[in-house]
Amino acid sequence: MKPINAGLLGIGTVGGGTFNVLARNAAEITRRAGRPIRITRVADKNLDLARQVTAGRAQVTDDAFAVVADPEIDIVIELIGGCGIARELVLQAIANGKHVVTANKALLAMHGNEIFAAAHEKGVMVAFEAAVAGGIPIIKALREGLTANRIQWIAGIINGTTNFILSEMRDKGLPFDVVLKEAQRLGYAEADPTFDIEGVDAAHKITILSALAFGIPMQFGKAHVEGISKLEAEDIKYAEQLGYRIKLLGIARRRAEGVELRVHPTLIPARRLIANVEGAMNAVLVQGDAVGATLYYGKGAGAEPTASAVIADLVDVTRMHTADPEHRVPHLAFQPDAMEDTPILPLSEVETSYYLRLRVEDKPGVLADITRILADQGISIDAMIQREPGEGESQTDIIMLTHVTREKNVDAAIAKDRGAAGGQEEGDPAAHGRAGLR
Ligand code: HSE
Repeated sequence: MKPINAGLLGIGTVGGGTFNVLARNAAEITRRAGRPIRITRVADKNLDLARQVTAGRAQVTDDAFAVVADPEIDIVIELIGGCGIARELVLQAIANGKHVVTANKALLAMHGNEIFAAAHEKGVMVAFEAAVAGGIPIIKALREGLTANRIQWIAGIINGTTNFILSEMRDKGLPFDVVLKEAQRLGYAEADPTFDIEGVDAAHKITILSALAFGIPMQFGKAHVEGISKLEAEDIKYAEQLGYRIKLLGIARRRAEGVELRVHPTLIPARRLIANVEGAMNAVLVQGDAVGATLYYGKGAGAEPTASAVIADLVDVTRMHTADPEHRVPHLAFQPDAMEDTPILPLSEVETSYYLRLRVEDKPGVLADITRILADQGISIDAMIQREPGEGESQTDIIMLTHVTREKNVDAAIAKDRGAAGGQEEGDPAAHGRAGLR
């Protein structure tokens, strides 16, 4: 049983976890893979850290390109992240005929088409289970387990940081800024949390899932990306009163005209399992025409959960690397010559139900005006609550949930509503958002 040799680029949290789990479970993993998998070389700028983690069990360098060029290395594990040096290293590894295992969602969402084309050309594998939802085997499920299905939609909580923040805001009634600071203190959120809180990380992940689900190229640039930084605690409270929870969802939905690809805070009925995914956990719902709805739940980040996905890829590559490339599972689930050019729909064409919070004068006729404006756009109201005005207050909040309509109808109603208010605050929407999974 000749071992297969891997070179690890980046021995941070996930790299360290991968090194440790591979060592700890070596015997079990070998029984599964059919031969030992060894990380023989590690590259990291922080040589002290690399030496400390590897403890003499791998050759350590600060030159990642030397690892990628090493003829003894069969698989390159890229855990550096980002689209700079990581892109160069991955493309160089492929050019050198090496298989690649990566957790880099930004790289695949933005440069995946180029990377998979290069890998196809060279007959090497690029495996990326760890790129979406950490330890949850959602890539494997979509690419293989659900292969009989025409996938209809995917909706996922695929960013643990924002889910933690939303859970805390709901539980404790605290504003976003306060909870973000707490998340940073606890190490959930990065010092620069922009990618997480503005929905970019989730958009990278749903872009990858959409390609796997529908056999379309990666089109991150066409995704609607909206985070949670503008969400107000009172909207979480009103959603609760209507029987809903607010979650940051990544949604990819196939329609006759094209694919909806979007990330935004979403009202989900509280009775739904996915609405009860709390803290930093991840969950992905996939609806297939044959299987129906399936739900995948687990840790979306962390050293060993993510290592679990990285090592699953190492085992897959080890099993398949002697197979004829034509007989391997295609990188993106569909054969490369069978990809479709289905358009990503603009946000204005998205179909869903909507949440509206309106700050209005509490006087006769206001509600009639609002419902008329909505009716003129063909928007039907599903549920409504009106807050009791406070002592001496002349204004109040009206909160509405609509039936399914198109985004452009809601935009038109909001524009008309603002116009009708004639510069006064009456009817001015204080917040609006989308609901789903009803
Ligand atoms: N930053 C991500 C999250 C984890 O908060 O879920 C890695 O994908």
